[in-house]
Amino acid sequence: MLPAFEWKKNKLVMIDQRKLPLKEIFIEYGDYRGVARAIETMVVRGAPAIGVAAAYGAALGVLALDTGVGLDRAFARIYARLERTRPTARNLFWALERMKIAFDANKALGLSGLKRAMVAEARAIEEEDVRTNEAIGRHGRDLIPDGATVLTHCNAGELATAGYGTAVGVIRAAHDQGKKVRVFADETRPFLQGARLTCWELDRRGIPVVLITDNMAGWFMKKGEIRLVVVGADRIARNGDTANKIGTYSVAVLAKEHGIPFYVAAPMSTVDASLASGDRIPIEERNAREVRESGGRCLTLPHIAVRNPAFDVTPAKYITGIITEKGVFRAPYRFKA
Ligand code: MRU
Repeated sequence: MLPAFEWKKNKLVMIDQRKLPLKEIFIEYGDYRGVARAIETMVVRGAPAIGVAAAYGAALGVLALDTGVGLDRAFARIYARLERTRPTARNLFWALERMKIAFDANKALGLSGLKRAMVAEARAIEEEDVRTNEAIGRHGRDLIPDGATVLTHCNAGELATAGYGTAVGVIRAAHDQGKKVRVFADETRPFLQGARLTCWELDRRGIPVVLITDNMAGWFMKKGEIRLVVVGADRIARNGDTANKIGTYSVAVLAKEHGIPFYVAAPMSTVDASLASGDRIPIEERNAREVRESGGRCLTLPHIAVRNPAFDVTPAKYITGIITEKGVFRAPYRFKA
């Protein structure tokens, strides 16, 4: 399997997720500004993955420093650039906060000691994410009945994390237990993470997958073809309200109407206990071109107004349970900082 991240001779190598599944192109980054741009332009995406990328970005920023003078100011500049890449995923800020703690704890070591410590912290964040996802898989797999068809939205798999995946990790863990699991993957307009990435990942793992357009989910639920829904998350408020890819809210409402369990799978680093509810979760609005165009071709009249919120918030009342590395939480959710 392709590693989502490779740290090679003080450079970060990532697969270009915009080109998948048709082309497997790897891009090497030696500069934190390049990593910031990669996050903004979705070379790398998915909440835990952008956290890991930002952590390596912060390490790259420090590696490029050639004087111990003005260290704090230099790091603040690096941090600020990486922080303003994407607003919704809590994991980005969580990872940068960890890198700042590592910076403060090691800046007295001198520049070369600090550089080593920053790279070590980014690596630790990456490695921990894989172990965390495996634990999410272990907690979630028993929720999936043998023979079930599971609907997922967007991509919360290996590519969206440092490895293994969250929502897809739960499906994968059930599959690895020997259960017969089939996945319905929403294509996930407008960026098509479901069609391009989730289908690619599941196919490579030998897990049966059926691609549907987003507006088919309700019909398949009505026909009894979907047994359970599991999705990832970008930010979870203290009360369990969950921001995830646009379209998740509609799926959750449909699942409730049809009596289908709707699970969120995410690491605790996605929880933002400082927010009492989902009302205050910042929702990214992306470029209108993503909606107006497909594969570079305009789908509508070029002057038509477009809205493109990249995420929505699913109220906790629609969520059957939140699967984390610490176990499965159920309402009433009272996450602590
Ligand atoms: O805009 P994206 O592709 O970064 O959105 C990704 C999602 O919404 C995922 O479901 C979420 O980040 C969880 S990834 C484990």
